[in-house]
Amino acid sequence: MTERLILDCDPGHDDALAMILAAGDPRVELLAVTTCAGNQTLPKVTRNALAVCAVAGIDVPVAAGSVGPLVRPQMVAPEIHGESGLDGPVLPEATLELDPRHAVDLIIDVVLAAEPGTVTLVPTGPLTNIALAMRKEPAIVERVKRVVLMGGSYTRGNKTPTAEFNIAADPEAAQAVFSAPWPVTMVGLDLTHQATADTDVVDRIKAIGSPLSSFVVDVLEFFGSTYREQQGFDAPPVHDLCCVAWLGDPEVFTTREAFVAVELTGTWTNGMTVTDFSGLLGQPVNTDVAITLDKQRLWDMTVDAIAALSAQPEVAAR
Ligand code: BDR
Ligand code: CA
Repeated sequence: MTERLILDCDPGHDDALAMILAAGDPRVELLAVTTCAGNQTLPKVTRNALAVCAVAGIDVPVAAGSVGPLVRPQMVAPEIHGESGLDGPVLPEATLELDPRHAVDLIIDVVLAAEPGTVTLVPTGPLTNIALAMRKEPAIVERVKRVVLMGGSYTRGNKTPTAEFNIAADPEAAQAVFSAPWPVTMVGLDLTHQATADTDVVDRIKAIGSPLSSFVVDVLEFFGSTYREQQGFDAPPVHDLCCVAWLGDPEVFTTREAFVAVELTGTWTNGMTVTDFSGLLGQPVNTDVAITLDKQRLWDMTVDAIAALSAQPEVAAR
């Protein structure tokens, strides 16, 4: 049984790695890629998604979605992802035509066309498209198998002291997603900061020796440089990759149940994912929270996926 997923993303260096793993791991099946403004504006992240499809030989519907958050002014992250949203590698021209549908409609169509309980949504950017899809077609909530999102944290933020970027960028959308009656897994900073691409990982990817592996190395080197300068990391945490990894292999991280709510009216804490593991707030559990990563497993499957895609003749020829 493969895990079938829609990747809703804002590429983004770590989103690019999530796309590649979703395409290259035989235990998951990528059904569609949808984009949302986040790390950069919508045209930029959409162009980046198509460039990743070109270099990795990904051939699934790709649709552009929301240009900005539901309520708040737009936030982008050039200090981490550069002006293009995917600075570092040379970006190839698109080989796929963009799907004419809005991302929200593509998500709804794919979910409704599948057997109930067989499609997982993997949002790795702000949750705007997912919240809008729920509002446009509420029936998707009971048909989706699970939402495995990169966002939030229970100990820290990166956009503010308490808020992680994807949640801070559209907190109202995030709250709609956490409070809907579908299973949610929160893959937050506590987990993803364990997912660093250390030198040995970059060396393993380099050793594959393909155009795709060179692209990935360039992605990781740029991401590493901004994480070093901006946040003092020795190596970049490849957040979004972890969500796809868990679908392929649930042993890649442990989880713990909690009630999670997004702070929407804090003076200093907007976008904080308030995470109650102990029932102190008297609210029902609504989220599985990612806790501890098996880093070796994560990078083994990622290196394998890059090698598998690299062996495809059309990818090797780029
Ligand atoms: C998240 O924000 C973005 O910069 C990354 O792509 C990731 O999804 C990390 O806070
Ligand atoms: Ca992202």
